[in-house]
Amino acid sequence: MAAVLKVENLKKTYGSGRLAVEALKGIDLTVNAGDLVALLGPSGSGKTTLLLCVSLILEPTAGKISLDGETLFDHGWQNVDIRQVRLQKIGFIFQARNLIPFLTAMENVILPLDLMGVERAEAVRRARELLEYMEISERADYLPALMSGGEQQRVAIARALAGSPKLVLADEPTGALDSVRGMKVMELLKSIAREKQTAVICVTHDERMIEGFDSIFRLKDGQIMLDT
Ligand SMILES: Nc1ncnc2c1ncn2[C@@H]1O[C@H](COP(=O)(O)OP(=O)(O)OP(=O)(O)O)[C@@H](O)[C@H]1O
Ligand SMILES: [Mg+2]
Repeated sequence: MAAVLKVENLKKTYGSGRLAVEALKGIDLTVNAGDLVALLGPSGSGKTTLLLCVSLILEPTAGKISLDGETLFDHGWQNVDIRQVRLQKIGFIFQARNLIPFLTAMENVILPLDLMGVERAEAVRRARELLEYMEISERADYLPALMSGGEQQRVAIARALAGSPKLVLADEPTGALDSVRGMKVMELLKSIAREKQTAVICVTHDERMIEGFDSIFRLKDGQIMLDT
């Protein structure tokens, strides 16, 4: 099975000197197509830092990141268009309420397709299909403020999937939801991994949410603990 994501000896230190915080101390992680991976660990263990590095938003201090067979970071950004890679291969889902407030649900989903240069009619078709898949099409013309937290989160997932990413990263996607809606979001992430062969990494605090995941990584003080 081809690795979608390969992380080798990844390190991230915030700040320097006496104030330096070693947030990641040498992470190794491989995620294959269709893998559903949970990332657990106490507050401050480095989960968000790891997702931000993997999503090419935060520059690691050392180590290597390869995505879809291409080396993107090897002790420095490689000579590739990181912005395009991010747009075309990675989808992000963060805690609820990160939709663009002055765009409707539909327009939020169309936005990444627009940025990718997808033709308008095709973008609208894809966005409609995704909103249907997420069972939220009846809210297509609503602004985020007029939707519930769970509805907004489903739109955010539709947006994350718009560009058919190889890798979906979710940082506590159920954090702002009640447990029933949270469970529903987790079920959706599972079906995305299964049906679209997308690699999914999901950070959560809630162990009850990770039933049926393929693997579980536990972070502690910037290191991955052996799975138990
Ligand atoms: N921008 C920053 N500048 C300095 N230190 C930071 C920064 N962001 C995070 N840290 C530190 O890095 C460590 C890891 O933080 P991170 O946010 O990755 O943890 P986390 O596992 O996501 O925690 P939580 O479960 O609370 O979200 C913590 O010690 C944190 O204080
Ligand atoms: Mg975090």
